[in-house]
Amino acid sequence: MDENRVVSQESSPDDADSGLRPQWLRDYIGQESVKDRLQIFIEASHQRREALDHVLLYGPPGLGKTTLAHIIANELGVNIRYTSGPAIERAGDLASVLTNLEAGDVLFIDEIHRLARTVEEVLYPAMEDFHLDIMLGKGPSARSVRLDLPRFTLVGATTRAGMLTAPLRDRFGVIIHLDFYQVGDLAKIVARSARKLGVPLDDSAASEIARRSRGTPRIANRLLRRLRDYVDVKGDGEITLAMAEEGLRLLEVDPNGLDAVDHRLLQALYYRHQGGPAGLETLAAAIGEEGGTIEDVYEPYLLQQGYIQRTPRGRVLTAFACERLGWPVPSPQAQKNLFE
Ligand code: ADE
Repeated sequence: MDENRVVSQESSPDDADSGLRPQWLRDYIGQESVKDRLQIFIEASHQRREALDHVLLYGPPGLGKTTLAHIIANELGVNIRYTSGPAIERAGDLASVLTNLEAGDVLFIDEIHRLARTVEEVLYPAMEDFHLDIMLGKGPSARSVRLDLPRFTLVGATTRAGMLTAPLRDRFGVIIHLDFYQVGDLAKIVARSARKLGVPLDDSAASEIARRSRGTPRIANRLLRRLRDYVDVKGDGEITLAMAEEGLRLLEVDPNGLDAVDHRLLQALYYRHQGGPAGLETLAAAIGEEGGTIEDVYEPYLLQQGYIQRTPRGRVLTAFACERLGWPVPSPQAQKNLFE
């Protein structure tokens, strides 16, 4: 994947240490129903003085899964340990993380769908009954020892809930889907970030950034930072609408928030496949990306906005996309010929 892409949803060091992340539910903008639900579960866990049930957060990258995990721990008044599916290579790695937890702690596992199967099997009894079965020795003299664990809350995050095994998914008591943000909420997020960064930002510029951020706070905050650079060099430090538009043109983010990679994908569908259907791997090869990356990172927004559709025979471009991009809608005959 192109990590330098300004509208990449992957996190970068810029995002993480910025201090822009909200710390409490009350500072978290948007996703109202998610906040309402979490508020109740957190309050109930406080009242009963019990650890919160395990929480699965799923949705496209950059929507705030890690931020929410952090907020959950803050609201519960407990510590949080961060790790990720690929970082836990062996069952022993997980055992050492689990045995270091304190009662009530939150264990955050990012990309939980990438846990090794052998590790997942250790996680089941830990989640369900708060114990670990550890094998000591090998061969005929091997024996299993049971270790009790403190009651903890697992917060798992994944871009694709469908990639989780059923037994793992079933062990989460709370399953939360994060969807793309409304433009109005993104504008508030950008305005809040601008205040924190000390950058003057016009309301109309905040709305423009929000419109071009693919429903994703991480992208909105990244565009804000790059525009701050732009106005520091080219202007007087204030992000006005005109400066935002100029800067966004330089960053190759179009008025719909689509960047060069999105355009390549849509163009491949249109020009090589007469609007489709085209299989994921075929498209991936055409634009030099991995199928999984298209599925996780590029496609969700294009689907949600109605540029493309998924069909059993592959991805198809919509008439809406053609209109937006100024392309004649391919005739049904042209599409049919391709497959006959
Ligand atoms: N920064 C990133 N995501 C945010 C959100 N949902 N609310 C407030 N600030 C944010």
